[in-house]
Formats: sequence, C-alpha cells, structure tokens
Amino acid sequence: MQEDFFGLDIGSNSLKVVELARKDGRFYLKTFGYHPTPSGAIFSESDVDQRELSKNIKEIVAESRIESKRMVTAFPESLVFTRVIEVPAVSEEELAHAIEWQAEQYIPMPLSEIRLSWMVLDKELLEQSLKSKDPKKPKIKVLLVAAPNSLVERYLRIVKDAGLIPVAFETEIVAIARSLTSAEATAPTTLLMSIGASTTDLAVVSQGIIQFTRSIGTGGTALARAISQELGFDMNQAEEYKKAYGLLEDQLEGKIMQVIKPVFDVIISEVERAIMYFQSHNPNNTVKRVVLTGGTSQLPGLVVFLATTLGLEVQIGNPWESVVVPEQYAGKTSQLENQVAFAVAAGLAMRTIEKK
Ligand SMILES: Nc1ncnc2c1ncn2[C@@H]1O[C@H](COP(=O)(O)OP(=O)(O)OP(=O)(O)O)[C@@H](O)[C@H]1O
Ligand SMILES: [Mg+2]
Repeated sequence: MQEDFFGLDIGSNSLKVVELARKDGRFYLKTFGYHPTPSGAIFSESDVDQRELSKNIKEIVAESRIESKRMVTAFPESLVFTRVIEVPAVSEEELAHAIEWQAEQYIPMPLSEIRLSWMVLDKELLEQSLKSKDPKKPKIKVLLVAAPNSLVERYLRIVKDAGLIPVAFETEIVAIARSLTSAEATAPTTLLMSIGASTTDLAVVSQGIIQFTRSIGTGGTALARAISQELGFDMNQAEEYKKAYGLLEDQLEGKIMQVIKPVFDVIISEVERAIMYFQSHNPNNTVKRVVLTGGTSQLPGLVVFLATTLGLEVQIGNPWESVVVPEQYAGKTSQLENQVAFAVAAGLAMRTIEKK
C-alpha cells in the first residue's frame, strides 16, 4: 500500500509544497503552495538561520493546509555528488557490493563522511535479467547519490524542527525527471534543464531513464547581479528589469540582453558540453529536445534564444499534465509561473513509497 506524504522543495529563493492523492493509478491534486525562503537559509550552517527556515516550513505547511506530516524532500544537486554508473544486473545483495566498490573509485570524499544511496535506473532490464537463466548478465545503469553526513543531518534537523517526519530524501533532478518526463516513456531523448535562483541543473533522459546529471552554479540571481553591477541598479530593480526584458533584443535597446547574455553563455557552454558528452557515449542516440523548468525559465526571450543557440526544440515542462486538478485550482495550475515552480515538489509527491 502507498503511504501518505507530501513533497517539499526547499529552494534558495522559495519553498514549494505539493500534496497529491492516488486513486486507480492516477494522481489527484489535494493542495499546493509557495512561500519565500529566508535569504541565505538553505546554505547556512548557523542555528538561527536553520530555525528560521524550520519556522517558514511550518508556515507553508499550515498555509497550504497540508494534511500529512510525512514528507519527502530533495537535496539541491549542487550540494550532493551524483553519478550514473554501470554495474552487472545481479541480485540486490551483490548489487550493493558492486556499487560500493565503484563508489569508492568515483566519490571524491571518504565513504565514512557521506550517506550513500542509489537508485536502479534500468528497473525492467534488472527484473528480466534476474528471471533469466543466462549466466551472462547485462549491465544496468544505477544512479549513485553521495550526500555529506553533515548535509543529511542538517536537513533532518530542519524538517524535524518544523514538526515533520521525513520518509525519504532524493535529489532535485530525479524528482523533476519524474514529474516532467516519466509519463511519456516513448518521448524523444530529452535534456532537462532546471534554472532556479542559484543553480542550473541538467539531466539527459532517454526512454524515461536518467542517463546522467550535472549541476552548474549559475541561475537567475546571477543574471540580476550582472544587471545590478553593470547598470548600477539595486538588486530589486535589477530583478524587475530582468523579468521585464530578459533576452529580448528589441527592448531598452537590448541593454538588459547584452548584460545578461555573457552569464547565459556560461550556462550554454555547459549545456553544449553535456550534450556532447552524452552523444560521444551514445553515438546512436541524440538529444532531440530541451524541456525547461525552474523560475528562470520564464525569462522573456529564453525559449527562442535556447532553440536558436542549441538548434533543438525547446519547451517548458508542465508538472500538472499527469495530475487531475480540481476546478478550484485549475486557474492556478494553468499559469506558467505555477508550472515552472512546481516540477520538483510535484515530482517528490509522485514518488512511490511503500508502507513497511
Ligand atoms: N518572470 C520571470 N522571468 C525571469 N526570471 C524569473 C521570473 N520569475 C521568477 N524568476 C526567477 O526565478 C528564480 C526563482 O526560481 P525558483 O523558484 O525555481 O528558484 P528556487 O527553487 O528557489 O532556487 P534554486 O532551485 O536555485 O535553489 C529567481 O531568480 C527569480 O528571479
Ligand atoms: Mg529550485
């Protein structure tokens, strides 16, 4: 039986929650909500900041009338180490050995200082292989996640102080892949691109399976900072200019565009490298489209800019697509800002967690 819980996305700019119900294999939206994050809170080691964050989490849970105390949250990609590895499709116990052995080679931290978790990406292939009598086992992809113990402990403290019961942690891009691509296993190979306030996270997803992930330390705040520094506005004004004119060449004589484009060029070159990396390892499989999410994906002119620069189809992902939305929320979930903001929280709420 599936247990009750909700998804909490602790972003550097805002908190988001989504609570879903499940019936006959479908998701139904119970409630969702948004609340600003106290500034700097998620990266801070200080007790005062952590308590402030807990208080804000309590507030969003109350405001959104979330029913469950049980929750799933995600670590930001930038604070964990993730890697897709390949191991033989063997039984769970042997798999654990094979994975730990590989983890020691790949993870740049001592295993005693991290919490190691993994997720089999090729689930079907593993099941087939375990049933088959063939001694030659195929290789399966496994997503390895290493979270520093200090990070796990900090998150546990923050959510427990908010009166919540964590039932699982995962990483943001895993949640995003679930809400934006898992309903369409036959979809073309996709580059997921999540542009938030402080980071841009990437993943290539092929046939519903994450192929690899990457995180870049540049997001919407860096764009506003460039506007503020180059044009002499304070950060609030810079945010307004960014949201109003973005990458549009024909606005304000292209001044805003000229200032933020160099910041975007950094993101683009990482995206191009990621695509090239995937293609060099998968010569018969090419990235066909980009699916965007995160608050910054609303930047004016961004979709056209990315499509022209990358030469790929670009679209904005909608996490509510596979969710039955009651009429009272329909007006809200159809708004672009509520589509780009909730991919992580919705994906967390869509996770499968079995009652023990
Ligand atoms: N209309 C808009 N145009 C451009 N940028 C926007 C727009 N609306 C919001 N943003 C930007 O989106 C960012 C917030 O996005 P989001 O809510 O995804 O961030 P977050 O999840 O809190 O951050 P992160 O995941 O990086 O920790 C901010 O930088 C904000 O300026
Ligand atoms: Mg985010």
